[in-house]
Amino acid sequence: MARPKVYVTRMLPDAGIELLRKHCEVDINPDDRPLAREELLARVHDYDGVLSLLTDRIDAEMFDAAPDIKGFANYAVGFDNIDVPEATRRGVPVSNTPGVLTDATSEMAWALLFAVARRVVESDAYLRAGKWEGWGPLQFIGGDMTGKTLGIVGAGRIGTAMALKSQGFAMTVLYCDEITNHTLEDTLKARKASFDEVLRESDFISIHVPLLPSTRHLFNKGVFQAMKSTAYLINTSRGPVINEAELVAALNDRVIAGAALDVFEFEPKMVEGLADCPNVVVTPHTASATISSRTNMALKAATNLIAMVTGERAPDCLNPEVYG
Ligand code: DGY
Repeated sequence: MARPKVYVTRMLPDAGIELLRKHCEVDINPDDRPLAREELLARVHDYDGVLSLLTDRIDAEMFDAAPDIKGFANYAVGFDNIDVPEATRRGVPVSNTPGVLTDATSEMAWALLFAVARRVVESDAYLRAGKWEGWGPLQFIGGDMTGKTLGIVGAGRIGTAMALKSQGFAMTVLYCDEITNHTLEDTLKARKASFDEVLRESDFISIHVPLLPSTRHLFNKGVFQAMKSTAYLINTSRGPVINEAELVAALNDRVIAGAALDVFEFEPKMVEGLADCPNVVVTPHTASATISSRTNMALKAATNLIAMVTGERAPDCLNPEVYG
């Protein structure tokens, strides 16, 4: 019997590719760049399944271009690039990679928090530029962390991991989510709070919500004004959760103390003025970029895709209704 044919839209860690090759004929985008939409649209109909990235938009037009496709396995836990209801209408399974990037992402959220509060990037640039003339009592004074209040917006897997990692800093933890998070309440005595309370009371706010119509621009001018002027905002979720132009204004006017962002509203670009704000730290959507995390994402995506193209149930299927 012919082996299923799958397409991988960008080179991944070897482990995932090797696993795919055991079960399928595998073609891979040879260039280390996101595929242009037209390229993917032109290719999908030749394959039984596609291993897609968060930069690939999988929507009605893509499904039209691949009427016989048996599934799309996304190499990400976030799946706002996929029109899941449309996939379900067409009976096409789609999957993500939950659980394997929780620690890496929450570690990066902490790295960003430290960096922005203690002005690490600014100080590093100052020193490298040869500007330092010796120790000074007023140099690079930043924000305190120990004993401060950490606000978690979205207390799912990654938000929970972020909060749990606060334990060494004796922080008060507030979280805002639809559901009660017993792990946080039992372990940290964290308090479930309204979004407004989190804004008003937190010294650090870390965003961990998915991108949905209801969370797009959740953080905007009014929200920044409701935050403490000494507070810092950390985002490792999705860029469009923040109105980036309004954030730039808030940072410039010192409405909030600073922000640290791994994700951007218009990736790979930053809105005008963001890069000029001294009180912002930016990283290029690398929160999950650790060896084990990216390897396990590749293995998970490959496992899901193999299941899809061999007629098995994908373990991380986002639309299990397709299996009837
Ligand atoms: C995800 O998985 O959704 C991240 O944004 C990339 O790892």
